[in-house]
Amino acid sequence: MLEKVAVFRRATFNAAHRLYRKDWSDEKNNSVFGLCNNHNFHGHNYVLVVKLIGEVDPETGYVIDLKDLKEIIKDEVEERFDHRNLNLDCPEFEHLNPTVENIAIVIYRHLSKRLDLNKYELSLRLYETDNNFVEYPVE
Ligand code: NI
Repeated sequence: MLEKVAVFRRATFNAAHRLYRKDWSDEKNNSVFGLCNNHNFHGHNYVLVVKLIGEVDPETGYVIDLKDLKEIIKDEVEERFDHRNLNLDCPEFEHLNPTVENIAIVIYRHLSKRLDLNKYELSLRLYETDNNFVEYPVE
């Protein structure tokens, strides 16, 4: 039986957002989302940690070539979201509040198109600040 190992790749992107619902009043948006509902947006330095669990290939010693994982994250996350306004520039969030939870789910969907999920167990952590972060999917 082949050994399984978890490999991790970290990436960062900077993006602006505003948390609000178009169908709510200003008052309700302010009471639920507070400063995150600032009309002129605000930014975060997001830190993404992608985790892949898979079998170590006996020939290469790799679970995955980390150069390949780096490229996938660059294409699917950094080029899509870095230096963007998530609400205005990214169609994913046109009708979806860009909370750290929703951003993590969107990133998972983009990454999973490029990885063989029969071969790898994919999960990720997304840090919005040093102290606030989410994990998806939940074990
Ligand atoms: Ni925010």
